[in-house]
Amino acid sequence: MSSSFSDLTTWIGNPSSPFDESAQNPAPNNKLNGIIKPIKIGNVQLPNNLVLAPMAGVTDGSFRQLCARLGAGYSVSELASCKALHMKSPQTVEMIKFDGNTGPYAVQIFGSEPDLMAEAAAFVESLKICDIIDINMGCPVSKVVKTGAGSALMKTPELAADIIKAVSKSVKLPVTCKFRIGWTENSINVKEFAHAVVEAGAKAITVHARTRQAMYTGPAQWKFLEGIKEISGSIPFIANGDISSEEHIVELYEKTGCDGFMIGRGCVGKPWLYAQFLGHEELLKPELRFPIFRHHLLDMLMEHGSSAVPLFRVHLFGYLKNHPHSAALRRSLCMERNPNVVLQAGKDFFENK
Ligand SMILES: Cc1cc2nc3c(=O)[nH]c(=O)nc-3n(C[C@H](O)[C@H](O)[C@H](O)COP(=O)(O)O)c2cc1C
Repeated sequence: MSSSFSDLTTWIGNPSSPFDESAQNPAPNNKLNGIIKPIKIGNVQLPNNLVLAPMAGVTDGSFRQLCARLGAGYSVSELASCKALHMKSPQTVEMIKFDGNTGPYAVQIFGSEPDLMAEAAAFVESLKICDIIDINMGCPVSKVVKTGAGSALMKTPELAADIIKAVSKSVKLPVTCKFRIGWTENSINVKEFAHAVVEAGAKAITVHARTRQAMYTGPAQWKFLEGIKEISGSIPFIANGDISSEEHIVELYEKTGCDGFMIGRGCVGKPWLYAQFLGHEELLKPELRFPIFRHHLLDMLMEHGSSAVPLFRVHLFGYLKNHPHSAALRRSLCMERNPNVVLQAGKDFFENK
């Protein structure tokens, strides 16, 4: 930690860790027994089928580690450009590196050229930092889709299949992919696309139940996930989009028979959602909320140094979402760079609830 943060020691000295390393095993009497269970992707055993979604700018090493220690059975890195990996970009390598030893982890890469993707995947494998290589086929951002990558691949299922084949040939790790239900509301082709990537050898598929046109808005359209399990056959099908409660998990499971559940925005500011789904009551005690918050920010300070507080903001606003004066607090903290002020805001909120 940089010396400018030496005054943070007053926040550290204290507590026993709020985490339990066995948190990834479902509790014996959890309400979702039979739905939440261990699964395998290729030869990689996941302790449970609750997945932390890849989210650029959100799921850095600190957050992936925090969620894993609160029960997430598997996590995926922020998307990494195959071109940057081809150049062995130190920033990109730093971003995908996962120091923690907290369970299965995939590095997600994006690109549209099978050869370059294969080379990037082999480089990632050589770093020995992950268990699985995931291919991004869902990113809606213009900068990505204009190169034919991300969700633009929904328009070219044959190219998506070629990428899966080329990457699978270049690495020993299981290769998976994550895609959407279609490019536009008028061109939903999730079934055809799933067929193409499963036939090409994907070892698991994750489907975000929105089109590229919808970006991240509007409700996830779970009805389009029906029938995907029949296509994925023996490989896991992980459902994604708007999962934030036990009821959602049950409904999705009953509708689709999916093998796993990927949670994105639902766990921002609420990383204990995994513990809740797994039935780990001991991790849901109100007195653990502030230690979790503090641990998260301190880990980010170690990971990102002086940029940590601005990067933590998205989480901070998530944690403070139900604060009675949330709007005023957001305004007062939106430019804050002093970690002590942010820690105090978290302490005041969680300890006076
Ligand atoms: C800020 C943000 C960044 C994201 N970055 C990625 C990414 O790098 N790779 C990816 O496959 N999906 C990315 N996604 C999509 C999520 O993984 C997930 O599919 C989407 O948020 C829907 O799930 P949710 O409704 O549970 O949030 C991102 C989403 C958000 C909100």
